[in-house]
Amino acid sequence: MRTISTTRDGARIYSRCLLACYDFLIYRVLSPYVWRCDPRHFLELYQRNMSGNHADVGVGTGYFLNQCSYKPGAVRIGLFDLQPNCLRYTAARLARFQPETFECDALEPIPFTGKRFSSIGLGGILHCIPGDLTEKGIVFDAITSLMEPTSRVFGYTILNQGVRKTLFSRIVFFLLHRMKVINGASDSAAQLHVELNKRFKSVDVRVVGCIALFNAGDSLLSHGAI
Ligand SMILES: C[S@@+](CC[C@H](N)C(=O)[O-])C[C@H]1O[C@@H](n2cnc3c(N)ncnc32)[C@H](O)[C@@H]1O
Repeated sequence: MRTISTTRDGARIYSRCLLACYDFLIYRVLSPYVWRCDPRHFLELYQRNMSGNHADVGVGTGYFLNQCSYKPGAVRIGLFDLQPNCLRYTAARLARFQPETFECDALEPIPFTGKRFSSIGLGGILHCIPGDLTEKGIVFDAITSLMEPTSRVFGYTILNQGVRKTLFSRIVFFLLHRMKVINGASDSAAQLHVELNKRFKSVDVRVVGCIALFNAGDSLLSHGAI
């Protein structure tokens, strides 16, 4: 079942109106009750892996970046997204950190030539983009222009295979898939592991409910200028 056909489908829905209720919908309703993953798991992932020189790719509303423990002036934040509404919303929310913003498609090598980042967050982007996880793995290649060989890459994504699903989660997945908001009927933790192992020496994938939380480091990719 492949509903999403273009890369823009996964970013189209993020209107200003949706962004205004996104945090409540995702972190108070869908994550805990549908995907059965308490948002504290995402926050812990950020707390453990976000460095003082961080890029987020697929920023949404910047919900977890906004909760980071860094003081303004003590952290550099780069925001990368295909959807200008998300970039504007998150940049305004994080104005105290004076974030850098870049409109880009994470399925193409990102044409970034600035100073590279020590950590890169990919929270929630993989389940938005087209293809199975083998195709989505392209995102890990696309971000090499942002990475140093020692950068940490982390994030989370909704799985649809190899996880226990409730009737509720099946219905919501079906509807969001039909609406082209999420994609990934065949996504599993095992596939995610394979794609990360192709590119990183150290990989950790943990499943909570229907969500895979991952972090990876010691890149095997080539980090030359693009
Ligand atoms: C589900 S939201 C995740 C937001 C946030 N990181 C979070 O965890 O709540 C997905 C984000 O990925 C962005 N996105 C979707 N497809 C993209 C693509 N091909 N390139 C860059 N960003 C994309 C969307 O615009 C949106 O901001």
